[in-house]
Amino acid sequence: MRFPEQQIEQVRAAADIVDVVSAHVPLKRQGQNHVGLCPFHQEKSPSFSVNVQKQIFHCFGCGVGGNVFTFLMKVEGLEFPEAVRRLADRLGIPVNPVGGSDDAAPRRDERERVRRINGRALEGWRAALAEAPGTAPVRSYLERRGLDAVAVEQFELGWAADEWDAATSRLMRAGEVEQDLLLAGVSAPRQSGKGAYDRFRGRLMFPIRAVDGTLVGFGGRVIGEGAPKYLNSPETPLYRKSDVLYGLYQARQAVGVGMLPQVAVVEGYLDVIACHRHGFPWAVAPLGTALTERHARLLGRYAERLDLVFDGDAAGRAAARKAAALLAPLSLEVRVVVLPAGEDPDSLLGKRGARAFQERLDAGLPLMEFLFGECLDGSAGESVERLLVRVRPVLEVLARIPDAVRSSHYIGRLAGRLGVDEASLRQHMAVERRRPATESAARHPESGHSAPVPATRPLGADMPHGESLLLHLVVQGAVAAEWFVERVSPEMFSSLAARRVAGEIATCVRDGVSATRVVDRLHGEPLLQGAVTAWLSHDAPVVEGDPLDCARSCVAALVRRETREVGRLLLEDIRRAESAGDTERLTALLRQKDMLTRTPLAEAAGGA
Ligand code: UTP
Ligand code: MN
Repeated sequence: MRFPEQQIEQVRAAADIVDVVSAHVPLKRQGQNHVGLCPFHQEKSPSFSVNVQKQIFHCFGCGVGGNVFTFLMKVEGLEFPEAVRRLADRLGIPVNPVGGSDDAAPRRDERERVRRINGRALEGWRAALAEAPGTAPVRSYLERRGLDAVAVEQFELGWAADEWDAATSRLMRAGEVEQDLLLAGVSAPRQSGKGAYDRFRGRLMFPIRAVDGTLVGFGGRVIGEGAPKYLNSPETPLYRKSDVLYGLYQARQAVGVGMLPQVAVVEGYLDVIACHRHGFPWAVAPLGTALTERHARLLGRYAERLDLVFDGDAAGRAAARKAAALLAPLSLEVRVVVLPAGEDPDSLLGKRGARAFQERLDAGLPLMEFLFGECLDGSAGESVERLLVRVRPVLEVLARIPDAVRSSHYIGRLAGRLGVDEASLRQHMAVERRRPATESAARHPESGHSAPVPATRPLGADMPHGESLLLHLVVQGAVAAEWFVERVSPEMFSSLAARRVAGEIATCVRDGVSATRVVDRLHGEPLLQGAVTAWLSHDAPVVEGDPLDCARSCVAALVRRETREVGRLLLEDIRRAESAGDTERLTALLRQKDMLTRTPLAEAAGGA
């Protein structure tokens, strides 16, 4: 669901952020602003401020910020469109999803049809599993895997027979059309010519329900030999992998409507079921993907504590480090649980029972402690220089934690482990952050080169001063967003954070809305959102003198760097073409180089 920009703008303009916020946070007037205790972190004196004029909030304590939509999203756990709808309803403003009802209706129908087909397919597969004849090997497989009648019932397991079109023809006899069966992913198109056949053949079927119970898709495990071991429904109008966690629906069924006491994130279908069966009914699994930030946010709505459970082999530990780094910035209590190498929860529970698994859970480490250990274990006696290299990845994670209290807590603990004092570790971090981004990190889309930008570069923490200054001027409205968009493209910035903000500014211009709207487009990136609202919250001008002059020289610097970079890449190409003796290419490249050096920088950067 998406609403037209103009309608969103209308809702935003009609809403009063003070009204909305004060329903959740008692506010006191203080000059231009209203202040109160931040609802997003623990504090005793108010650093949460609401600016009426700009209709934004910002917490000077933990750095969160946003506008009226973001506030509702955070405080009520809504998605952006839900927040828009909620507020529109409250204000009595009619809003219609993009394209109006005419456009949305077929899409809704599509979802409805996929839902119906999924339901009918599941009925057939469950019936097939219930019928004893023909399923003897399946029955013995269930037994071997410890899947008793209760599990089959609770997880609605089914059996897709090893036939080419059992499900497809059954569903077509029931009145479904081929096109819809393909859309739902229950059938797959034949390689040659027309027609469709069953996607799932000879597989034990695991229906996947979204948290609200909607049957969104299936996973099928091959019985016996065959590849792939698990086959999943493709993404459909109803099913997005990063929105669904297997077992979350069942967990909430088991535990009730309130918050879950905790959640254990495991790897696979059978791990989830084994956990449920052994008295851990809050196990969930992402489906054929690594845990994403979206998953974590979804879980954050239902539980305050997450246990990430991993296999203790090298691949498992690497996955654990990755997940930990991803989740560290979120304000969730996350622990990392590492099982003995080669075991998953299913195998461990099967061999050693619930007690052994519980012991492992109890031995789980708080996420940051786990990361500290991964870097520092076995480092006793090493030089401080070596230690600082070891902890670099952890420092990058720390730099992405927006909550000042949390980050300072962890910096203190890390300092303790390193045996240095906290202030000097902070100073070291600040220096590291200012280390110039390696020149090769810049890239130019047309040149065909794209030196990989290290994925671990912290978003938001590493924006060079000139880049943040320029963006600050634009977001604050000191220079026109249109002026900016005409001269600068997002790729010209060296930091990922700046690219993202610049990209969103360009989108705002394209949609004809104010550049202050970047605030709510950055949800999902609290640190950046915080940076942007901080820019908006300061009333004083950013620079002394003419902001346009300042913006011009920032742009000129970007253009210069870009030109230098393109030049360098061209030179590399030229050398390559020379040694390959490719004269045609060489001539073309030399012409490009000539043009590059003749582009007057002043022209690119100037003009008001
Ligand atoms: P594993 O290969 O670790 O299997 O995949 P498992 O869960 O232990 O399965 P069993 O015990 O052999 O039956 C873990 C998860 O990765 C996804 C599935 O979600 C699976 O549960 N996966 C695995 C796939 O999507 N496709 C595959 O081919 C394999
Ligand atoms: Mn397994």
